[in-house]
Parts: sequence; structure tokens; C-alpha cells
Amino acid sequence: MRHFLSIDDLSMDQIETVLDWTKSIESGWQYCRSMNNKCISCFFAEPSTRTRFSFERAMHWLGGRVVTAADASTSSSLRKGESIKDTIRTLGQYSDAIVMRHPDPNWPEVAREYSRVPVINAGSGSGEHPTQALLDLHTIRQKWGKVGGLKVMLSGDMTNGRTVHSLIGLLHMYGCKIFYCPAKIVHGSSVEYLGLPEKYLRAQPCTMVEVECANDLLKDMDVIYMTRIQTERMATDGDMDIRYFAIDEKNVDLIKDEAAILHPLPRGKEISPLIDDDPRADYHERQVRNGLYVRTALLDYILYGNPIIAP
Ligand code: NCD
Repeated sequence: MRHFLSIDDLSMDQIETVLDWTKSIESGWQYCRSMNNKCISCFFAEPSTRTRFSFERAMHWLGGRVVTAADASTSSSLRKGESIKDTIRTLGQYSDAIVMRHPDPNWPEVAREYSRVPVINAGSGSGEHPTQALLDLHTIRQKWGKVGGLKVMLSGDMTNGRTVHSLIGLLHMYGCKIFYCPAKIVHGSSVEYLGLPEKYLRAQPCTMVEVECANDLLKDMDVIYMTRIQTERMATDGDMDIRYFAIDEKNVDLIKDEAAILHPLPRGKEISPLIDDDPRADYHERQVRNGLYVRTALLDYILYGNPIIAP
């Protein structure tokens, strides 16, 4: 069974296959494998714009079909207390693969154990978001022509942000130098860092940067990956003193000309809209569009497994 529940589910060779395939698709090659009525279930029990729409568009592009629930936490039997196991078993009767997002970080393990059709993780609470990591990797390579050796800064809420949990696995695999700048909550004289949980650090060296020092590093960074503060995942009184690194028109020119500024979106105040048209700002068009190409290649890989690469 070819699930894609964690970034660790694909080897480097398999990732390269999917990304080669992606390049064929985006190069304008007239791609359309007839999916012969193959159908995916898109089951989203948390909000989504880019991930759900790009998966659905990708399946349409492939000539396949989609059954979908955008607000599955209230519109499906989850609301009546149905378990994830029963939900997954049910969806497998109606579709050839399941694309799922749910707030419980452990749901992928239930899917791995019980699903009879392939399952793709489109977000597991504060756990992982492996398809976002694939499209981020593809975007970095497209911009730089390579990935190995690049200096990448990850910034924001690294405790709750699932995109960085998956991306960091790929950055390690491809030999990037990682700097991370966690947001912090200041409680009087003590500080709580929203840092990377141990299990995602994978025992490889990463350099931690204090929010106040991040500007000094910008000139050396090849990729700056920003993320928002995930207040919905915090037990908050709504009035916390959270400090995080932000890019705006005052510090953007400290960043080198060829660098990529990425963000999985949606953003908070960590990227000012005033820099949206800067040539280094790759989050709006390049990164979002790549989500469509990468997910098209991935769905084809998961459902068929034998690539069609442009000649
Ligand atoms: C992210 C997500 O849902 O994890 N967005 C996305 O899928 N593109 C990021 C976030 O919610 O902060």
C-alpha cells in the first residue's frame, strides 16, 4: 500500500521520481492520463484553501473524480462521535485514495493500520504536512537549480507548525544548512520558545537564532521560510506577549537578490503585504502554483506508480 502519511514514507529516489514527473507537468507537456473513473475522497476536518483546492484541481486535471467534504468536522459523522478508524474504512469503500486533514496528530497511524486504500496526509494537527514539504522542496530547487548546501532559515511557530516538521526532514536529507528562528512567548522575566520538537530535529545540527538577531543573518540566507503563529493550537488567554521575526519593507533589502522568501500561507503579520511584489517573494504565485503541479504528480504516483515523463 503506497500511503504518504509522513515525509519518511518516500525514499530520496521516490521523491526524485515525483519531482521529475512534476517538471514534466509544469513544462507545459500536455499531460492527461485518463484516470478511468478513479476517484479520491477529500476529507478535511480543518480549514484549508490551497491544499484542498489544489488536490481537487489536480485530480480533475488527471481526468479523475473527487468526492469531498470541506468542513468534515461538522458535516460528517465525526460530529456524531464516529472514530477515525471507522471514517477511514468508510471512505475507502467509495474511493481509490483518501486525502485527509484532521486536528489529531496521531490520525495517520490509524490510517496506516486500518485503511484498505492509499491515504495522503494533507495535515495532521501539529504533526506533519508532507505534501507541502514536497512542494516547498520543488520550489527551492526551481529557484536555485539545486538544494544541497543551501542555507535555509525557518522562522515562526515551530512547535505547532506542521509544515516545518515535514520540511526539515527533506532539508536534512538533501544536505541543507538549517538555521531556525523560533517565536517566543515572554511571561514576565521568563521566555518560552516555540521551538522545534526534538523528534523532528533528527539528531542533525541546526543553528538556533534569536528573533532579535535574525536580521544579522539575512544577507547569508538562500531561503527564508516564514510561518505564522498557530494561536488556535495554543491554550491562550488571548493576551500573550508573543515575539517573532517579521519581514517588511525596512529589512527586506538585507536579503540577497537571488534568495527565495517562502511561506506556506495563510500568513499573519510575519510578512508585510508591502513586499508581496518583491522578486524574492515566492509565496504567492510560484509556491502556490507548485502545489498544483506536485500534487498532480503525487496523485498519479500514488494511484498508478509508474511515471509518465515527457520525452
Ligand atoms: C498550512 C497548514 O495548513 O498547515 N497551510 C497550508 O497547508 N498551505 C500552514 C498554516 O496553517 O499555518
